Amino acid sequence: MASATLDFSVNLPQVGLEFMNSVHGEELSLVNQLLAQLNGDNNDAAISAHLNVWVAHTQAHFERENFLMQEYHFFAYPMHAAEHVQALQELKSVQSAWDQAANRETLRAYIQTWRQWLQQHISTMDFITAQFLSQFPIPNEVTRIDELRRHDTH
Ligand SMILES: [Fe+2]
Ligand SMILES: [Fe+2]
Repeated sequence: MASATLDFSVNLPQVGLEFMNSVHGEELSLVNQLLAQLNGDNNDAAISAHLNVWVAHTQAHFERENFLMQEYHFFAYPMHAAEHVQALQELKSVQSAWDQAANRETLRAYIQTWRQWLQQHISTMDFITAQFLSQFPIPNEVTRIDELRRHDTH
């Protein structure tokens, strides 16, 4: 795992649900912007703010998938959700390390690892999950899924 580099121009694997592909695409472009900020002359506060947006996006991304897996009793839910928990924990600990030390090299290195992780996670967990979920009437729009989530928790 030492040479965890993946070209950002490599395409993300596509899965059988459109809303998942669009969330993944959004996340990748968020991180691309962050990388550009890190390589440019943006100040640390701007990077912290962008990192916050990334963390919030990731959290919503994972919760949405978890919600649908539970809703439709997907057999591999525990495995898939466990990968989410681990990835989010890692991202959050990178965020607090950044908040303390603002080390650009560390953040850049993590982004490479994350990019590798995203590729692997989508092509395994998300792929099989989307395949399973596509037999159900899942809306194409992220906003409509979020409405269902809100109804569910009320
Ligand atoms: Fe995903
Ligand atoms: Fe996932």
